[in-house]
Amino acid sequence: MSSILLAYSTTDGHTPRICERLRQVTQGQGHTVSVVPLSQADALDLTAFDSIVIGASIRYGKHQPEVSQFIERHQALLERKANAFFTVNIVARKPNKNRPENNPYLLKFLKSISWQPKLLGVFAGKLDYPRYRFIDRLMIRFIMLITDGPTDPKTVIEFTDWDQVEAFGRKLAETV
Ligand SMILES: Cc1cc2nc3c(=O)[nH]c(=O)nc-3n(C[C@H](O)[C@H](O)[C@H](O)COP(=O)(O)O)c2cc1C
Repeated sequence: MSSILLAYSTTDGHTPRICERLRQVTQGQGHTVSVVPLSQADALDLTAFDSIVIGASIRYGKHQPEVSQFIERHQALLERKANAFFTVNIVARKPNKNRPENNPYLLKFLKSISWQPKLLGVFAGKLDYPRYRFIDRLMIRFIMLITDGPTDPKTVIEFTDWDQVEAFGRKLAETV
């Protein structure tokens, strides 16, 4: 049995839901799992975990700055452990952008850091127009218009493929 840390960076709360599903799967395989916001992970004794997993969502083309900052601070420690990184974004609803080899945000992010995660994941996120501020709703509708997505401002859709999340969870459980 190993100890896994799932640290997430989120804006609207979907990435922690993915972490909770990963927790269910990995706990089911007998591991001990902690799920925390990335902003609180520094307060933990990171050396105590066998595996550190970072999950982060995309907003206007980027992960939050806290993601690369955390990686820079702890890269040596991350490299000594089992580790993984996954990204959450709406573009990943498309089959030609839903894997580590073809998701543009993940590919760009990996070029910007020197850490090479041992396991990579890409998950489609949630679209929730009623929840967004006016300007964000307008911008996302425009992005959806040009990428053939839903533009009705009442739309709430979870594009996440939960089977894909669970498969990633099983891999995590195996690689600790
Ligand atoms: C203001 C805003 C900007 C976003 N920008 C992008 C983007 O540039 N590309 C993309 O694929 N998804 C984008 N998304 C979609 C989010 O990545 C998706 O909703 C994800 O589920 C958010 O995860 P979170 O709730 O953990 O923050 C954006 C969402 C919002 C609200």
